[in-house]
Amino acid sequence: MAHEREMVYEYAWIMIIIAVIAGFIASLAYYSFALNVNPACKATLATPDQLEDFKKKAFENPVVEVAPGVYEVYILARQYTFIPNQIVLQDPKLIKFYIVSEDVIHGFEVVGTNVNVMVFPGYIAELAWEPPKNAQGEYLIVCNEYCGVGHQFMKAKLVIEKSGEALQADEDQSIIEKIVDIVALGTTAYSIP
Ligand code: CUA
Repeated sequence: MAHEREMVYEYAWIMIIIAVIAGFIASLAYYSFALNVNPACKATLATPDQLEDFKKKAFENPVVEVAPGVYEVYILARQYTFIPNQIVLQDPKLIKFYIVSEDVIHGFEVVGTNVNVMVFPGYIAELAWEPPKNAQGEYLIVCNEYCGVGHQFMKAKLVIEKSGEALQADEDQSIIEKIVDIVALGTTAYSIP
């Protein structure tokens, strides 16, 4: 008799666990398909030729300014480094990062920003970033996916340099914004009958 009761408990637990797992899978499906909540990056499957070509870019010419302030950056991730190890950009308005892994899954995160991509071997990961106006100086780039014994040493540096001209433009822009604010405030203040 006691044995039968145990069986009932066991079946009940199995059912509960199946229900919980089904719930998790359903919520995952709901978020990614119905609400379209997905990582903000794109990953494209690449052919071996495209990967070879990409590697060459990363080694020889990783930073391309396609328009004034618009940069394409090609980065190769491998155990346990990023190539290039330092990226210097002058007055960037839009940065398009392209990242490829040569071996295992790596992460690409620019600390303190919302740049954060998972890099799968065989795919080209892609993410565009508009740095905020006050973005300037050195940013640490880290691998945030455990990729082996040297994972914690896997890092690089992003340097955003601002020319005097760009700083002046930012300043002018914020003065204009302030004036607009003051005028807007003034209109609301004085429009009160
Ligand atoms: Cu690469 Cu962790």
